Amino acid sequence: MLEFYPQIKLVHILAIACSGSLFLLRGGGLLVGMRWPMAAPVRYFSYTVDTVLLTAAMMLLTILPKELFANGWLTVKVALVVVYIVLGVFALRRGRTPRTRAIAFAAALLVFAQIYFIARAHNPLGLFYLLG
Ligand code: HEM
Repeated sequence: MLEFYPQIKLVHILAIACSGSLFLLRGGGLLVGMRWPMAAPVRYFSYTVDTVLLTAAMMLLTILPKELFANGWLTVKVALVVVYIVLGVFALRRGRTPRTRAIAFAAALLVFAQIYFIARAHNPLGLFYLLG
């Protein structure tokens, strides 16, 4: 499987770009009162992209040597993915007021950025590591 590492990583990264842009558009659309972000085709497309993203992630996880994750960056990343998903649910669906949804949306984008920096830096501090 290791010989497919570059392709699998590319799929993971393309799915991240797709997933992140879609979340940005949907959350932004909802904030200004649009209805398309919750339409069934958009939701199903979003589930599909996220499934591809996570499947590629699991494949990377199984083929890479575990020494690569020794400093705990992946554990922190996965924990933040859970936080991102919960915030995303509040931003798109569960937030009762527009203000709650807006705060959850902004927080989700910040968490997404930190997940990205953690992945790039291979360090649990993410952006703070890259800046320091
Ligand atoms: C449970 C979810 C996830 C798991 C288990 C996971 C796992 C992984 C693994 C194992 C790698 C390979 C690291 C390497 O090649 O050195 C990777 C790369 C990467 N992941 Fe994820 N990932 C997940 C979700 C995400 C999300 C939501 C983002 C979006 C911000 C993301 C961003 C990245 C990036 C940018 C890379 C490439 C890092 C580099 O340049 O080396 N991942 N991920």
